[in-house]
Amino acid sequence: MAAPLKVGLAGLGTVGASVLRLIEAERDALAARCGRAVEVIAVCARDKKKDRGIDSAKFRWFDDPVKLAADPSIDVLVELIGGDGDPAKAAVETALRGKKSVVTANKALLAKHGVALAALAEQNQVALNFEAAVAGAIPVVKTLREGLAGNSFARIYGILNGTCNYILTRMEQEGLSFGDCLKDAQRLGYAEADPTFDVEGHDTAQKLSLLASLAFGTRVDAEAVYVEGISSITPADLEAADELGYRIKLLGVAVRTDSGIEQRVHPTMVPKDSAIAQVMGVTNAVTIDVEGFAPLTLVGPGAGGAATASAVVADIGDVARGVRSAPFGRPVAELAAAGRAPMQRHEGGYYIRLIAVDKPGTAATIATRLAEQQISLESIVQRHRGPQGGKDAKSAAEPVPVILITYATTEDAVRQAMDAVKRDKVISGEPQLIRIEKNR
Ligand SMILES: NC(=O)c1ccc[n+]([C@@H]2O[C@H](COP(=O)([O-])OP(=O)(O)OC[C@H]3O[C@@H](n4cnc5c(N)ncnc54)[C@H](OP(=O)(O)O)[C@@H]3O)[C@@H](O)[C@H]2O)c1
Repeated sequence: MAAPLKVGLAGLGTVGASVLRLIEAERDALAARCGRAVEVIAVCARDKKKDRGIDSAKFRWFDDPVKLAADPSIDVLVELIGGDGDPAKAAVETALRGKKSVVTANKALLAKHGVALAALAEQNQVALNFEAAVAGAIPVVKTLREGLAGNSFARIYGILNGTCNYILTRMEQEGLSFGDCLKDAQRLGYAEADPTFDVEGHDTAQKLSLLASLAFGTRVDAEAVYVEGISSITPADLEAADELGYRIKLLGVAVRTDSGIEQRVHPTMVPKDSAIAQVMGVTNAVTIDVEGFAPLTLVGPGAGGAATASAVVADIGDVARGVRSAPFGRPVAELAAAGRAPMQRHEGGYYIRLIAVDKPGTAATIATRLAEQQISLESIVQRHRGPQGGKDAKSAAEPVPVILITYATTEDAVRQAMDAVKRDKVISGEPQLIRIEKNR
């Protein structure tokens, strides 16, 4: 058997500690599959004394991940520190320059510096593997890079943040508010103390930018992603979606359009019969619209130590076997500029919830404004004011929720129509807009 692959592991947190445990538990199977043993020989974290349930005396200890990356005794650096700057960036660069392969779960680093790091890996003829950076245990990076290497893609979209899907699932199933579900998610450890990054869609955007590059052969461009989170979604939206045959999910969507690659993250109405609509709780899923046959959907655990470690160890296994793929599926020189499709040109159906002022002419005014923008309606639902004649019935002058579902139109047309309706003062508050993503 060939000499063991010597691993330096930077980061011993949720993922790092799980990677150590998995390599230990699967030692024999890994050696058999890779044709050589995989041995962690050195580790790095901030606090040597912290109890991690690991016997760290078995490994050489480093306080500085860059020193670990430069150590000549390791063959591969596994970076599980996180963050888009140093020390993670410096450690990864040091390893690549030293002709050591790198395995990382760091979506923030790759979304910002992915192309430069891929170029560095290429120059030094080593691997830069990042399966764990997108959708945890779901092998979507390998699927796009290798499994579907012979195909073209029209669109790729997914539920890439378990926190958001957990919140939306509970809101839908129990009629709870966003705030109540968020509190529960925090209590159960599904959401961070500061949940902004997750619930406002930024985590999904970073992952989407990596998937878009892999799917469309473009340079990673996280700045090009249009981002909207789920904090404005109400139980009323989920109830209306249900009645209309949809569910609401936070999706990251990348589509090839005539004006470039559209990358967007926003709450999305998906048909209840779609594969992605069945995905509940913290589970992740990715649907790939492959040219020439029916869409393919991968579903599985998207985060947590064990799920993420599974992807990290598989990537280490590739290094052990000497398999080296271009990080984004093709040489960096072959990656095209992404060609950002402006969101204003986005085409699709819309769910619009308005609080209409109940006075004569309101409906006609709204209809006129939509018609001016050539927006046709698939359905209109006017919510009742309460039990008929009951004590909860509101007075005739109170605003009434109206829900409109449009046929395919453009973002620009919808925005213009809503601006006009607001100027006409026939609605109160801001209209709620949710884009509809149809099955292909
Ligand atoms: N958690 C998940 O479910 C998940 C899923 C997918 C991807 N990821 C990615 O995996 C990576 C690690 O995430 P995690 O959840 O495992 O993070 P974590 O629990 O916060 O662990 C981070 C580790 O890095 C160490 N560290 C931080 N700063 C350091 C420094 N300056 N020098 C040396 N060590 C340092 C910490 O040391 P101490 O322990 O001594 O503080 C800790 O062991 C991130 O890129 C994350 O985005 C995580």
